[in-house]
Order: sequence, then C-alpha cells, then structure tokens
Amino acid sequence: MIFGATGDLTRRLLVPALRNLRRNGLLPDDFALIGVASRDIGDDGFREHLRKGMEQFGGGARDDIDWFLQRTRYVSGKFEGPEPYKAVAALLPAERNALFYLATPPTEFQVIARRLGKADLLREGENTFRRLVIEKPFGHDLPSAAALDKRLLRVAHEDQIFRIDHYLGKETVQNILVLRFANGFVEPLWNRDHIDHVQITVAETVGVEGRGKSYNGTGALRDMVPNHLFQLLSLIAMEPPSHLSAGALRAEKAKVLHAVRNLDPRLDVVRAQYGAGRVGDAAVPAYRGEPDVPTDSSSETYVAMKLGIDNWRWVGVPFYLRTGKRLGRRRTEITVQFRQAPLALFRDTPVERLPPNDLTLHIQPEEGVQLRFGVKIPGPTVRIDGADMKFNYSDVFEAKPSTGYETLIYDCMMGDASLFQPAETIEAGWGVIQPILDAWENDRDIPLAIYDAGGMGPKEADELLARDHRRWRRIIR
Ligand code: BG6
Repeated sequence: MIFGATGDLTRRLLVPALRNLRRNGLLPDDFALIGVASRDIGDDGFREHLRKGMEQFGGGARDDIDWFLQRTRYVSGKFEGPEPYKAVAALLPAERNALFYLATPPTEFQVIARRLGKADLLREGENTFRRLVIEKPFGHDLPSAAALDKRLLRVAHEDQIFRIDHYLGKETVQNILVLRFANGFVEPLWNRDHIDHVQITVAETVGVEGRGKSYNGTGALRDMVPNHLFQLLSLIAMEPPSHLSAGALRAEKAKVLHAVRNLDPRLDVVRAQYGAGRVGDAAVPAYRGEPDVPTDSSSETYVAMKLGIDNWRWVGVPFYLRTGKRLGRRRTEITVQFRQAPLALFRDTPVERLPPNDLTLHIQPEEGVQLRFGVKIPGPTVRIDGADMKFNYSDVFEAKPSTGYETLIYDCMMGDASLFQPAETIEAGWGVIQPILDAWENDRDIPLAIYDAGGMGPKEADELLARDHRRWRRIIR
C-alpha cells in the first residue's frame, strides 16, 4: 500500500525497485499494489500513470509491466478523512500481510498513522504482519522527533515501524560492516592507538533543485547530518555487535551517538551558503538567487563539524564531517587516516613529505576502497612518495540494476530491521545537533560563510582542520 502513490518517490524509486525485486523472483505471485492518493483518477487512471512511469524509469519490458498492472488498485481520498481507509480495508483481507509505505510529505505521517490505527489496519495476526514504512525527515528537531515517535507508538509497536534512511540501502554503505568485521587485518588497527582522525564527506554538485521553499526551512544540517552522515559515522565507529541481529546492530550504532561529546557550536561547527559560480561548464546562481529562496536567506547549504566520541576506542580521535551543495564534485567518501610511523629511519625526510596512510571508502559515485601508503621513489637517494592501492566494485563485480530501495523494501517484507532506524537512534541523532540548532537560532552573530559554487567549500572549513594541523581530502583532484 503506497500512500502518496502519484508522487515522485513512488514513480522514480519505489516502483522501479519493486520491478527489480520481481525480476529477481522476490515478489510473490499474489502480490498486490494498492496506491492511495488524493487525485481522483480511478484504477485505470492510476494504472496508466504507473505504466508511463515504468516506461520512463526502469525500461519497458511489457510482460512485467502487465504483471504489475494486473495486481494494481487505486484508492483516492484525503488522508485526513476516514474514507480512503475504509476503501483500503475493503481491499485488504485481515489475513493478508501488508506494508503501508508513506511516500508523502512528512506533515502527513501522523494523520495517516492515526487513521490506519483507527481503521484497525495495523492490527497484526498471529502469522500476519502489518508494517508502517516512513522516510526522513523524522521531525525537525529533538522535541518534534520525540513527539512524532510518541504518536506513532500510540498506533503501532516499535517493531512495526520501519524508518528508512536511504543511505543504508547503498551497497557500499553496507560494505562498511563487511570491511570492518570480515577482515582480520582491519579491526586490530581500528582504534585510537592507530587512527589519527576520520573524515566523512558528502559533497553534492546539485543545488536545491526546485525545492527552495522547503529546503530553506531545513538547511544542510537538518537535511543531511542527523540522518545520512550520522549513519556513516555510527557504522565506522560502532563496536562489533555480538551477532548480526537487528537488535544488536542497532544498539551498537545508537551507543556511538550517545557517546558523541558535547560540541561547541561556535568552535566546532562551520556553516556556509553557496554564492554564484560554475559547476562543470554551467554558470549557476547563488543560493539566494534560487527560486523560492528569500534574497536575504541565512539558511546554510554547507556544514562542517568536528566531533569527538567519548568512549574507550575513540577518545582523542577527531571525526570531521562535512556536507554541502553546489560543490565542485559529487563524492561521498570516508577517509580513515592512520597515525604516522615512527620517523627515526627517515629523519632526513621532512615530516610533511611523508604521505599519511589512509584508507578511503568511496561510497558514491565511485564505489570502492583505496589504501594510500608510502613507497620509495626509485633512485640512489631515499625519497618517499604516496602510492595507492585501489579496488573498484565495477572492475570486479557486475552491477545489478538497483535504486537502493530493493534491499530496503525486501527487508521490510522479511521483517529484518537491521537497516532501519529505531526511535532511539533518531532521537540520539537530533540530540547531538540540537545545541547547534539552538545556538544558530539564538545567536545571530554566529557567522554564515559564503563559498563559490563549484569549489571546495568555504575557507572557514579548511581553518577548522588547520587549527588541528590537518587538511581535508581534496574534493576536486
Ligand atoms: C536527501 C536530501 O535525503 O539526500 C537531499 O534531502 C540530498 O538534499 C539527498 O540531495 C542525497 O542523496 P544521494 O543518494 O544523492 O546522496
């Protein structure tokens, strides 16, 4: 059951993901798709809408389009009224399993959940499930996230609620766990004794893409940090769980966020907004010149921060996080920089010239792992340079068509909550950034830097690391 069935998320991602699941034989023959939305287009209108979407996103193989359309129904109505839920109930026998996917604006989550509860659609049988799937944003700060959780928990149990962070559907994000815990040489080095610092970068070239109005009320911090960046942070920093159950995994991830040291919003955080510039060959306007953005907007499109994790493994190791729009290159990556080797043997080599050992996990658009280490430059004198060993997924494995939602939807159906977030993690994430939100709200003197679109981000973010005698990995090489 998809609420918001005529929207963009459904067409671009959910339906193509369902088709890929079907192609891999992972949907049962008695599968049914019920779309719910406000437009009054009837079953046939919705089927036509789906057919066009399927042809546009995911190819036009006729037989599997027909397979879906034969199993598709549509219910129209306003989400706040009881009617659509009655119509849904009439189409959904009590003994059927169901996923209610809320592909709607977040303002609708509470009302739909309440109505589903009232219509008794969330009641599970002994052998049947009823699950509610929602996607970020979960609230806009700690109190609103806690209020949303409270309301959802009035109508469903925690284990019926699947909160999606689409970053966890990315293959290379899932690979973080494998890299760390399936390789004997990694874990012994993965701690404060051997690691100097960690950098997490989510750089985008896109601007606000017509979302000026909603983005302006959100900003880069809320949009990216407590969710996507903190997911990456917790996977990199968590303790090995005792087994791979959802409970064990999620508990370890939550502990990381609970251990983040209180940060100082003035010293440890940089906020910035893009000015005009060039991304690739295209001239792009400043953020304040984007449609629906106030010309005096002080919303940030970039944020960088330094975090500490106060636990036995990580105390003293800084984690530097940054994300921004309209940067010179799209890249999501995590770099773990190891401590320098003892230098005595190379005392005639200036320290700066010894390349640091670092391990970079490329998440997107490249997918792979890269290890940088020092090598001797051939010749009679000892000179050292950095060299790279690089593994690219695409060189080794044939990529399967994936929107990133296949695994997530499949896991929802199977009831495996490992890749979903419990209320505790959501609230812990907001808890970390709440002091920054409060400081920005209350202290207008905290500066907002301006950076050129198409560049590497603001110089203030470079200064954040320079204070610690460190440097960001270059976004543009
Ligand atoms: C979304 C944000 O959650 O993630 C967007 O709201 C952002 O602003 C997007 O562009 C990034 O996702 P991806 O998969 O392109 O890295």
